[in-house]
Amino acid sequence: MALINDNFLKLKAGYLFPEIARRVNSFCDANPDANVIKLGIGDVTEPLPPVIVEAIHAGVDELASRESFRGYGPEQGYDFLRKAIVENDYKSRGIDIEADEIFVSDGSKCDTGNILDVFGQANKVAIVDPVYPVYVDTNVMDGRTGEGDDSGRFEGLVYCPVTAENDFIPSLPNEHVDLIYLCYPNNPTGTVATKETLQQWIDYAKEHESIILFDAAYEAFITDPEIPHSIYELDGAKDVAIEFRSFSKNAGFTGTRCAFTVVPKQLTGKTSSGESTAIHPIWNRRHCTKFNGVSYPIQRGAEAAYSDAGKQQISDLVSFYLTNAKILREGLEAVGITVYGGVNAPYVWLKTPGGSTSWDFFDQLLQKGHLVGTPGSGFGAAGEGYFRLSAFNSRENVEEAVKRFTDVVS
Ligand code: MLT
Repeated sequence: MALINDNFLKLKAGYLFPEIARRVNSFCDANPDANVIKLGIGDVTEPLPPVIVEAIHAGVDELASRESFRGYGPEQGYDFLRKAIVENDYKSRGIDIEADEIFVSDGSKCDTGNILDVFGQANKVAIVDPVYPVYVDTNVMDGRTGEGDDSGRFEGLVYCPVTAENDFIPSLPNEHVDLIYLCYPNNPTGTVATKETLQQWIDYAKEHESIILFDAAYEAFITDPEIPHSIYELDGAKDVAIEFRSFSKNAGFTGTRCAFTVVPKQLTGKTSSGESTAIHPIWNRRHCTKFNGVSYPIQRGAEAAYSDAGKQQISDLVSFYLTNAKILREGLEAVGITVYGGVNAPYVWLKTPGGSTSWDFFDQLLQKGHLVGTPGSGFGAAGEGYFRLSAFNSRENVEEAVKRFTDVVS
């Protein structure tokens, strides 16, 4: 009989967002007339910017004639997109990244999981808690942890808690770790990391020869000019960090799928016999073997995000969602709720009122207000007593959500 990967059995609950969807669907089945407003999963609601739609259409048209048809593209992404990324996301900020250090992919969720293929089982992994669940779950699947406890923590991982008590700034591990996941602007807390904080992590990584897996999927939402958009703005980061970026949340690609991962050529790891070796060719090998590239029209759409019109339309979209976040923040504060985030990120993180648990508050909001958010404890033990609201929705729904929230907690 075929053996399964037993590590999957350590994951007791379903993946967080399908689990929420399951509970919401069962509520909707029992209450078919309820108009449920979903501020749970961070999925965009507004249509693709027009200039991107035009570029995708033009890409499809090219595929419609024999002369301009294209089949397999380069696995790492078309040059036109890799060059546009380098010019606009890196060179414009004085960062020296080369086009062949960019790997275009179908998502940061996929890549933050896939990257583990190139790392050995024995690596010690540091996780900020609460955290985007993919980082934990993929390490569990890969056998890099022991069993989980009732709070959802897994033996073998090093947790760096972030709560209001430490201003959501994770302390450096007081032991050696090899891989470090950082996500800024942060999902789920909506908080950001200053240059000083990131530099401390880079310095730690240099000293310990660790690698930082830096998820910057929400960088477009940064409004504070002092906050870095890329980890490579910091000294020495190219020696120790891989960066993940996405077109999902800024340009509305959650359904169309396009993202990229930056693996600097100078970044090294160690073989089991202790020799230093570059990560770039190993990731390239993995990418070419297991991935066939993002479709041509979608890469043309992503390229259009960097045109003058694209930049303007994306900036309008980001401002729209940030205004939603402001409405949520202000509405919640007006009824005495303590809120964090939501200024440089599309997520508002709040203290559950009356000290209720995150899941109890989830049920209360759903039953009484027909509102969906994400329980903080679903992101990790240190998220207990917190709750996340996503600003990705229509203005009308966000305004209505604030009214309903007020009714539930008053
Ligand atoms: C979230 O709600 O945390 C995000 O939608 C997750 C994701 O981007 O995969």
